[in-house]
Amino acid sequence: MSQKSYGLLNGKKGIIFGPLDETSLGWQIALAAHREGAKLAISNVAVALRVGSTTELAKQLDAPLIQCDVSNDTEIDACFKEAKEKLGPLDFFVHSVGMSQNIRKEVKYENAKHDWFLKTLDVSGLSLHRLIQGALKADAMSDGASIVALSYIAAERTFTTYSDMADAKALLESITRSFGARLGAKKIRVNTVSQSPTPTRAGTGIVDFDKIYEFANLLSPLENPTAEECADYVITLLSDLTRKVTMQNLFHDGGYSSMGMTTELLHLIHNAIGNEANLRKAGFTQELIERVKS
Ligand SMILES: NC(=O)c1ccc[n+]([C@@H]2O[C@H](COP(=O)([O-])OP(=O)(O)OC[C@H]3O[C@@H](n4cnc5c(N)ncnc54)[C@H](O)[C@@H]3O)[C@@H](O)[C@H]2O)c1
Repeated sequence: MSQKSYGLLNGKKGIIFGPLDETSLGWQIALAAHREGAKLAISNVAVALRVGSTTELAKQLDAPLIQCDVSNDTEIDACFKEAKEKLGPLDFFVHSVGMSQNIRKEVKYENAKHDWFLKTLDVSGLSLHRLIQGALKADAMSDGASIVALSYIAAERTFTTYSDMADAKALLESITRSFGARLGAKKIRVNTVSQSPTPTRAGTGIVDFDKIYEFANLLSPLENPTAEECADYVITLLSDLTRKVTMQNLFHDGGYSSMGMTTELLHLIHNAIGNEANLRKAGFTQELIERVKS
């Protein structure tokens, strides 16, 4: 994490949903927000509070720890009530939450179990709607507040092993626009940050994560950003410096999303497909192998 504080969040108060351990994007966002002068509450679901290190983070930052399942409206209502009592009106919250049982159990998209699919959409996408609705109901947000959620490029381009999470991210980004439009009157901003593959618990749970990470890292002119760098970017969106930025999905990916191909990768692929054994090892079907040969 950058050690320098710019005081960008001096006097601001907010909740970070989703820090699990120090690899978590939410964890690094909490550290950076604290460094920039914010007073925080830290939140996660009950099971994560038992198995993760969230409690330690809350102690370290002298922040109230609020248990909240973001797919449960009763817990959300209680969370914003408690946060408002302990911190006063909030200037921001960060949704850094995601979960897919289909991914966890390595079930292919084609065979996705629909009860798990619904849970993915609820916890990872609809939960942003639930949280904003809960915050408004509790009148917990100050005018001019900022809401940021974490997304991934698979919301708009297909990455096969990202499975039902891609649909959840598309929902998340759409809710960002729908609520952003409606909250303009209160000068509240809603944005998503689309982060590169990052080695966290959720990230490394994706099949072939190491290869997806490697490919993005080679293609991105600035390399994959770390969780700490993601946190620094999110801080700018929580600060007053971005007060007119809303309804955006903002790529924080070292340039990956604007790249097509590099000469080096092009040659690497060309050389690799010259060898049929390589193709079989990579899982190419006979039909694809014939296409390469033709
Ligand atoms: N790691 C990556 O490669 C990457 C890339 C782009 C976006 N993201 C997104 O960043 C966000 C944070 O993920 P991460 O990579 O830091 O992984 P992480 O595993 O550290 O964080 C995910 C968090 O979601 C929490 N969570 C799960 N179910 C919940 C529920 N019902 N209620 C409340 N919290 C719940 C988990 O307890 C965990 O703390 C997610 O939205 C993820 O999709 C991650």
